[in-house]
Amino acid sequence: MYPIHFSLLLHLVGMGLLFTAIFGGLILHIQYRRTSDWPAKLVLLRSLRRIGLLSPLGVIIMISSGVGNMTLGPNRYTLFSDGWLSMKLMVFAAMVLAGIYFGIQGARRTRIAVRLADGSSSEHDHPALKALDTQQVTAFLTQLVLMIGILWLSIVRPHA
Ligand code: HEM
Repeated sequence: MYPIHFSLLLHLVGMGLLFTAIFGGLILHIQYRRTSDWPAKLVLLRSLRRIGLLSPLGVIIMISSGVGNMTLGPNRYTLFSDGWLSMKLMVFAAMVLAGIYFGIQGARRTRIAVRLADGSSSEHDHPALKALDTQQVTAFLTQLVLMIGILWLSIVRPHA
């Protein structure tokens, strides 16, 4: 096995982690919306946070193995050598930035839910929680579409 093979393997492991974070997050989110019991909702929100932590790990793995793919294989790539790769890196950057933003919003949602659960909420908390709940579904779907776009670019590799 050559170093490029380890790098490609790691690339696929990272991809698996990112898909797990998206699908796992979506499933837990649906469970959270279906539950009306506050203690159960809070447990699901904490699990969502844990599963969300897989994505920074996935991002680190994708960047390090991606750099490995660019430098260790028979084809040497640079940032601008191939249109599909440049495009993929831009979509990847958008996905990471969106992930950071939605992660911060998710943490805000948990704080509001904790206040509502312990009865210390303000009158604005209920509508704010509803809006953030809707936003989080949009977040998972956006990340899914971006991931599929990246996969398409990686496999089809269209020439501009
Ligand atoms: C969510 C992010 C990413 C996904 C889902 C993804 C997925 C993939 C897939 C499925 C392949 C094809 C593997 C193969 O041909 O065996 C690939 C190849 C590649 N990826 Fe990624 N990738 C991602 C991020 C990155 C990043 C951040 C970089 C660069 C820093 C990168 C660089 C590369 C390169 C250079 C190849 C071509 C390897 C070769 O043909 O030798 N990828 N990627």
